[in-house]
Amino acid sequence: MLRIEAKALADARDQAELVAAIAAAAQVGVFEALRAGPASAAEVAGRAGLDARATRVVLAFLADAGVLDFAEGRYRPAPGARAALCDPEAPGYAAGGLPHWLGRLRDFTQLGEVLRSGVPARAPDAVRDQEGLRRFAAAMAAAPRARVERIVELCLSRNPGARSALDVGGGPGHMSRVFVERGLRTTLLDTPETVAFVGREYGLSEVAGLDLVGADFLEDPLPPGPYDVVLISNVLHIYGPEENQALLRKAAAASGPGGLVAIVDFVGGRSPRASRFALLMLLGTERGDAWSEADYRAWLDHAGFTDVRVDDVDADRQMVSGVRRGR
Ligand SMILES: C[S@@+](CC[C@H](N)C(=O)[O-])C[C@H]1O[C@@H](n2cnc3c(N)ncnc32)[C@H](O)[C@@H]1O
Repeated sequence: MLRIEAKALADARDQAELVAAIAAAAQVGVFEALRAGPASAAEVAGRAGLDARATRVVLAFLADAGVLDFAEGRYRPAPGARAALCDPEAPGYAAGGLPHWLGRLRDFTQLGEVLRSGVPARAPDAVRDQEGLRRFAAAMAAAPRARVERIVELCLSRNPGARSALDVGGGPGHMSRVFVERGLRTTLLDTPETVAFVGREYGLSEVAGLDLVGADFLEDPLPPGPYDVVLISNVLHIYGPEENQALLRKAAAASGPGGLVAIVDFVGGRSPRASRFALLMLLGTERGDAWSEADYRAWLDHAGFTDVRVDDVDADRQMVSGVRRGR
């Protein structure tokens, strides 16, 4: 049983402040600056182009908290924090997603207002400037490789002969790349500004076997395909029932006979993170939610999919998949 007591609340608040400071440091390049070797606060400020006083205060705090080691006037990452904060190649690297989380934290400061008005705390997810795109794409691309492979594996186990895939709302292309590696001709569809950004910054324009389509799937049709797999991963939580049903009808039109639609998301009532995720969608979208298995089943049935199955992708996320009924 959870007990909310003054001491536990104070500890949680302290932890939140620490993680916010780590995220802000990641956002402005403090850990990147420390990758070049131990440095004084003034040197870190110089390397990352930061204010000297602010850098001194934040680094001293991070050292007191055990995130950094401080010796002979120089800071370096503490051994226990190095992989998560300073090594983008490490499996446990987490700093890439923290700046995006910081934006979420800002949304939380608006929750009282959202409770009064029902209006989200910020512009919907699909509307982003270049800096927003950079942070968002980095957070998406930080998805663990094992999760991405499991998703692709589940799709291929459901449709073993698949030769083509459509990755709807594919973001930085981490799923698309694995489909291509597995020999599927793949199309990544995302908003025109996202596609322009990831094509350039994530080298997706150069990937042989990958086609990029910039479109708004609410307004525009999906590419005709037909595709053997239509993946809609971490997308339907952004929208309400009408938009999701319309998108699934478009997915059915883009699927070949026996084609698979695979929805990856936090399924309400099944994922232990679903209610937390629904809160994020309340803050950041107009109609988004962590939809339930019953919602997905009803939408898939109406859109023309059958043989619906729910698989756990990992501890938090599920894949709801269905096969296109014969035409
Ligand atoms: C949360 S990300 C998911 C990225 C990736 N599929 C994954 O699972 O990590 C949602 C993606 O959907 C895209 N998206 C949202 N609304 C869209 C729309 N109306 N048309 C096209 N793309 C959209 C966003 O730009 C974003 O890249």
